[in-house]
Amino acid sequence: MPFDRSIKIAPSILSADFADFGREIRAIEDQGADWVHVDVMDGHFVPNLTFGPPAVKAFRPHVTTFMDVHLMIAPVDPYIEAYAEAGADLITAHVEAGPHTHRTLQAIRATGKKAGVSLNPGTPLEAIEHLLDLCDLVLIMTVNPGFGGQTFIRSGVEKTRRLRQMIGDRPIHIQIDGGVTGDTAPLVAEAGADVLVAGSAVFKGGSVDRSETYGRNIRALRAAAEMATGKMA
Ligand code: DX5
Ligand code: ZN
Repeated sequence: MPFDRSIKIAPSILSADFADFGREIRAIEDQGADWVHVDVMDGHFVPNLTFGPPAVKAFRPHVTTFMDVHLMIAPVDPYIEAYAEAGADLITAHVEAGPHTHRTLQAIRATGKKAGVSLNPGTPLEAIEHLLDLCDLVLIMTVNPGFGGQTFIRSGVEKTRRLRQMIGDRPIHIQIDGGVTGDTAPLVAEAGADVLVAGSAVFKGGSVDRSETYGRNIRALRAAAEMATGKMA
């Protein structure tokens, strides 16, 4: 898909009904999701366990938009090919996951997939400065990864602003993940983020049988973010 900086809402299926992923994915897409965000956790890099490659492969046929796979695992290199084969469109690895993120990003691109790099809240931007030319996306975590439903860490806003400057004209998305709500989406959108991950804020109050709520939640996030970037002002 062609690169653009329009606001994209990426619901995290970590907040979906774990017994019904196929219908949940179709419901969020029908209700306006731009991307589908898949949170992979290993119980080692983060204190939680989620989806192996077979689970991601099972999600794939239900995704008609763009499947964004966020790997919160260490080591990461031994699993890149498996997640690529499972059908990820973009694979994001954490810069904290090992000493050779440069090699990791090359390995992701070698599979033909888009490559993302993620920073935890305590990691400075300098850690990725020399990786930008290997990235299609930089993910700024605004919670410590591991769980949905945590409170947004505000230092991510200035970090986003500085990253936007650092990126300049390069075609690199800025993604924000953690605590994105109608209140925090405008802050990061104004600072330069274009892909907003949201778990709780999309799925709250809804279900596959009441998916209009997902639609309302997605539209509210998009409107709040677009207003802040001046597109609807
Ligand atoms: C956190 C995950 C997030 C999380 C976001 O480790 O990477 O994607 O699901 O959830 P909310 O939007 O509820 O903070
Ligand atoms: Zn995530």
